[in-house]
Amino acid sequence: MARVLVIGGGIAGLWAAVKATDAGHTVELVTKAELAEGNTRYAQGGIAAALFPDDSAERHLADTIEAGAGLADPAAVRVLVDEGPDRVRDLIRFGVAFDRGESGLERGLEAAHSRARVLHAGGDATGAAIEHALVATVRRRAVAIDEQTMLVDLLVEGGHVVGAQLLGASGAVVERRADAVVLATGGSGCLFRHTTNPAVATGDGVAAAWRAGARVADLEFTQFHPTALAAPGTPLISEAVRGEGAVLRDESGRRFMLDVDARGELAPRDVVARAVWRRSLEQGGAPVVLDATALGGAELARRFPGLDAVVRAAGFDWAREPVPVTPAAHYAMGGIATDLEGRTSVPGLFAIGEVARTGVHGANRLASNSLLEAAVFADRAVRAITASEASRAAAASEAAVAGTPARSAQVVHGAPVDRDELQALMWSHVGLERDEEGLAAASARLDAWHALDPVDRRSAEDRNLLDLARLTVAAARARRTSCGAHFRTDDPNVVVSATLHEPTALEREAA
Ligand code: SIN
Repeated sequence: MARVLVIGGGIAGLWAAVKATDAGHTVELVTKAELAEGNTRYAQGGIAAALFPDDSAERHLADTIEAGAGLADPAAVRVLVDEGPDRVRDLIRFGVAFDRGESGLERGLEAAHSRARVLHAGGDATGAAIEHALVATVRRRAVAIDEQTMLVDLLVEGGHVVGAQLLGASGAVVERRADAVVLATGGSGCLFRHTTNPAVATGDGVAAAWRAGARVADLEFTQFHPTALAAPGTPLISEAVRGEGAVLRDESGRRFMLDVDARGELAPRDVVARAVWRRSLEQGGAPVVLDATALGGAELARRFPGLDAVVRAAGFDWAREPVPVTPAAHYAMGGIATDLEGRTSVPGLFAIGEVARTGVHGANRLASNSLLEAAVFADRAVRAITASEASRAAAASEAAVAGTPARSAQVVHGAPVDRDELQALMWSHVGLERDEEGLAAASARLDAWHALDPVDRRSAEDRNLLDLARLTVAAARARRTSCGAHFRTDDPNVVVSATLHEPTALEREAA
């Protein structure tokens, strides 16, 4: 059986650790902060799956592909929607208590879904409920767990990943060798000044994999969530709130989304985020507002208990008044390119969850597909590791011949990278709207910085942010036309104030 090193403690990493242990592998699980910290824990809306009689995998597939602006990989989406329901049943077996009503599982509606299919737990605490159940499950297994331990670099020998360099809680860098390294390090929202992500989301896995020679893809596709509360920390206000009937208004009180798209507040996320951004610019930077008053105080507190507390703690009574919202970087749709079993282009290295680019999201992720993707592809990666164990020796010698050179260290010139400035630069030039002039300016500024040696967490994160920012800008410059979340105002084909969307056949039928 294999020695498996899993890096990351969100749903993908925990899932892989549990299933790999059950398959008989020796598993070490490394997490940058405490076990439960990461994007999973803050997921509010829920997990989407075609589990109800009025729904089907076909519908889920069509919605995912349409939201992805035609760039999702149909084979990957097929796997997601076909295997998703079984992974949700696994979650229930692991102890996740999804919310239930009189007629069984409750389900929410979110943007660009033609059916209500989003399961939730604790109202708006789905991610926390999943983390809780999976952490308890992993602690019952013989998994070695290293918390407060950060990935620095991957160990590559003969073109094969054979382990990782880790920065431990003591500040010492240690090496761990493994037969398979599974990256589940999550996202990179901290590339941007405004993000819904926690501070640990600094793109460590993508940057380290790239330095190790792995192929990365779609980095230009950052998903900006339309409704973060315009308050310190930009906390997320779930799309599920709009799914329950909340609407967006401009400073005159007008419900402006219907001018932009017939689907209104439930148009795909990229469309709503851009409309919020544009309208805010048009009103001189004043935020637009989310009006949830029609839901009433009792329903807001019942359905969204966590959010109710967050919004009130920020000083707003959202049962009585609309609250200011702003887009914020939310999810990385690109990442380390993988096949349908989580294999990267470097033998021995797997990637699952947000760090991976499986192809299911295309240019714009359908809401609540991310937890599902993590579970589905973590499961497949473990099965692939198990299946490939017998032929491991052969694979290693093949890889030694093929070889994959690790990317060389950066040339040191210019000033050390300044994280605040980098985040501001990415927000203003590589944000919801881009053009060649801004991207070229961002590229020049990024080139003028160098990263310090990764001697502690801050310097290791800064090195990753700088590598990833450069890769993201290069990807955005290379894609010269607008697509999904990558919106170039200098694309001659785009109309900056979005056009009215005609309802699709599915929407007409659903109506
Ligand atoms: C939300 O609850 O709005 C976020 C869910 C997601 O990102 O899929």
